[in-house]
Amino acid sequence: MSKGSFYFQTYGCQMNEHDSEIMAGLLADQGYTPTDQRDEADVIIINTCCIREKAEHKVLSLLGELRGQIEADPNKVVAVCGCMVQQEDIVPKIRKACPHVKLIIGTHNFHRIAEYIDRIRETNETICDIPTEELLIEEALPTMREYPFKAFVNITYGCNNYCTYCIVPYVRGKERSRDMVDILNEVRALVADGVKEITFLGQNVNSYGNDLDDPEAHFPGLLRAADQIEGLERIRFMTSHPKDLSQELIDVIADSRHICHYIHLPVQAGSSRILQRMNRRYTKDHYLALVEAIRKAMPEAALTTDIIVGFPGETEEDFQETLDLVERVGFDNAFAFAYSPRAGTPAEKMTNQIPLEEKKDRLARLNDLLAKWSLKKNQAYLGKTVKVLVDGVSKSNDRVLSGKTDTGKIVLFTGNEEAIGTLADVQVESAQTWILKGKRVK
Ligand code: 5AD
Ligand code: SF4
Repeated sequence: MSKGSFYFQTYGCQMNEHDSEIMAGLLADQGYTPTDQRDEADVIIINTCCIREKAEHKVLSLLGELRGQIEADPNKVVAVCGCMVQQEDIVPKIRKACPHVKLIIGTHNFHRIAEYIDRIRETNETICDIPTEELLIEEALPTMREYPFKAFVNITYGCNNYCTYCIVPYVRGKERSRDMVDILNEVRALVADGVKEITFLGQNVNSYGNDLDDPEAHFPGLLRAADQIEGLERIRFMTSHPKDLSQELIDVIADSRHICHYIHLPVQAGSSRILQRMNRRYTKDHYLALVEAIRKAMPEAALTTDIIVGFPGETEEDFQETLDLVERVGFDNAFAFAYSPRAGTPAEKMTNQIPLEEKKDRLARLNDLLAKWSLKKNQAYLGKTVKVLVDGVSKSNDRVLSGKTDTGKIVLFTGNEEAIGTLADVQVESAQTWILKGKRVK
């Protein structure tokens, strides 16, 4: 018999999504059942993000929303986990938004979730356990994957880069790499279980193995080994730090059978002066040289990026350097953000914080340019036949399937649900800013 139902509300990046998949696996393993109805769930787990202030606001407002529901049903357990709770001073804010939160659990010990929820349901106690030290990497945890045919695989945890705006090193700890044997065994097991596409995850996948004794354990080597696994159709990875992206890595991708010709390479800013203030440890010219090397080896590769506008001290001239870089690279897609001060980071204390209105104005101008490039890049696909991994039906019409090219383009086409999880050849008939549409030819 089920011990009760659980519901996950996950904010933030793919690491968080994957952590939720593991926590769901652990709960299912202990006899709980998933539900997609939040209001009916016995246990609601909120996996939080704190990369920008907005992410925190979303969590606090959800907790406020849940408050009435929990007061009406004291048996309901609300748990809060993830990056946000690793910050000092956040627990009182959580308690204020929702005094009935029963479990607060950090990023280094979330694998104890099922044990804690069992205890709370037995004794009705409140548990708050937030270790600040990184614990040993747990292997072979059960996972409840969102898709049967694609999967995330962690390769590193934490980050050592300390970009001056970023809170991640403080909430995720120092960089730790998994053993290559463990990673490859996990990939083989996933493939045996029907997975066709894997995404290697790390804050900076390029520095994979730097903390290991094994001289063979480095990112190009890991990719090369994964590329040999029979039955695996696609390998993706994120995120790459430009300071560590080597020619060897570019060559491995170009020469591989299954590594997608798609690189997410966050530039953050186009001005070398701002890049230095951000502690990114590369210049605009270095980034442009990397793009040239990628395009030389793989002319059709897609490039996407992250950009922050309004970093402290960013002048209009600095911002123009960002627009210039975007024009020169021509990104397929990009995530642009207004700089958000994060407590405890060096940039928060810098003078010359940019007014919100100015940040918004720069963000709007940048987004216009990014959209123009996205459309232009999509238009280059018109008439071409692309291979997509079909991942679901379109939200608005269940006769329309949605799939992704190896370059990460979303393609919509008519078909039926049986094709989900398979590879299909689709001829592109129309190109919009964010999607392609076409007809299946094979
Ligand atoms: N403000 C705005 N954007 C940020 N990012 C990280 N920290 C901040 C911040 N304080 C962005 C970066 C990173 C992405 C995941 O989030 O662009 O690459
Ligand atoms: Fe944050 Fe920089 Fe680490 Fe990325 S590389 S997680 S931006 S500190």
